[in-house]
Amino acid sequence: MIKQKRCRESFVVKTSIVQPPDTNNYGTLFGGKLMAYIDDTAGIAAMRHARKAVVTASTDSVDFLHPIYEGNSVCLEAYCTYTGRTSMEIFVKVIAENLLSGERNVCAISFLTMVAIDEHGRPAEVPQVLPESDEEKSLYATAKDRAENRKNRRKDSEERAKKYGSEYPWQ
Ligand SMILES: CC(C)(COP(=O)(O)OP(=O)(O)OC[C@H]1O[C@@H](n2cnc3c(N)ncnc32)[C@H](O)[C@@H]1OP(=O)(O)O)[C@@H](O)C(=O)NCCC(=O)NCCS
Repeated sequence: MIKQKRCRESFVVKTSIVQPPDTNNYGTLFGGKLMAYIDDTAGIAAMRHARKAVVTASTDSVDFLHPIYEGNSVCLEAYCTYTGRTSMEIFVKVIAENLLSGERNVCAISFLTMVAIDEHGRPAEVPQVLPESDEEKSLYATAKDRAENRKNRRKDSEERAKKYGSEYPWQ
């Protein structure tokens, strides 16, 4: 197993144009569509880092900071910023561009946790991350705190899932 990999080795860029079928009544990109793009891009970055199959374990909050209009390009950048033993934190930045004026906005950022799995579907070890640029170093330095928050959040979710159960309330 390779011990460390550079962030740029997992770097993914996906750019597309917002077409009418992907928009809501206000002519802006559906939030759910953007979340699917984010998950896809993060999954590819995680597979590039681990060179293994991966599953999404969690997505941190996604704040939609600016609308993305029909005709804009939407560019997603993703790379692995930090790892545990089997989990990878993937940072995704979403940049929309008005292709006529050139104006660009960072419309969303998100952190996802992807877990590498082996041929039996069990969590499998991944290489560590070697951050190089200022952005990578800054994200790496703050990742432990985010991982700790996720641990607590997972515990809360598991407790709530147990508490509220799987009965259909209308039956
Ligand atoms: C994610 C999953 C593989 C974890 O498996 P598990 O048997 O519970 O294994 P563990 O508890 O040892 O967790 C494995 C790693 O994932 C991390 N992890 C698990 N759940 C997590 C969560 N909700 N958020 C962040 N990290 C999580 C653990 O911290 C651990 O990291 P580490 O090895 O780097 O320390 C399992 O819960 C699963 O398959 N979930 C469904 C995934 C899925 O179907 N995704 C698609 C969405 S529909």
